[in-house]
Amino acid sequence: MPVEVDISDVAPGTMKVVEWRGKPVWILRRTPEMMASLAKTEANVADPASDKIYQLDMPEYAKNPERARAEHKEILVVVGICSHLGCSPSSRFTPGAQPNLPDDWQGGFLCPCHASTFDLSARVFKSVPAPSNLDVPPYMYLSDTTMVIGKDEKGEA
Ligand code: FES
Repeated sequence: MPVEVDISDVAPGTMKVVEWRGKPVWILRRTPEMMASLAKTEANVADPASDKIYQLDMPEYAKNPERARAEHKEILVVVGICSHLGCSPSSRFTPGAQPNLPDDWQGGFLCPCHASTFDLSARVFKSVPAPSNLDVPPYMYLSDTTMVIGKDEKGEA
């Protein structure tokens, strides 16, 4: 069943988690600085434009560095389950050197199970156990403040 979500309370730099098909879906509203970090991580991620084969069919609107629909490029919507063995990665949005992360960290996500790292588009970095970017579910906007997850122009997932 598609899930309707009010995103008016998701402030820039913060994330909301909703459940869809029993899975956590993250809705992250990225700041301009977070968006700028994507150009810096581009060369170090394994599948920059999400061209590989994915478990969920990767929607066309997710095959770009922002992995987001054109109406709201700043909003990332992904299934928050690691593509390695299914743990839930944690958000590590603060850039800079810190424990368990590379010194040139730009902000992103860290999986606590085997230390796979993802950038702020949930694109997997090269040379980590996770094989692929996090899945983007089908979604669409009903208004500027409401979205539906699990459904888009192509129908329900
Ligand atoms: S389950 Fe995430 S790195 Fe292994």
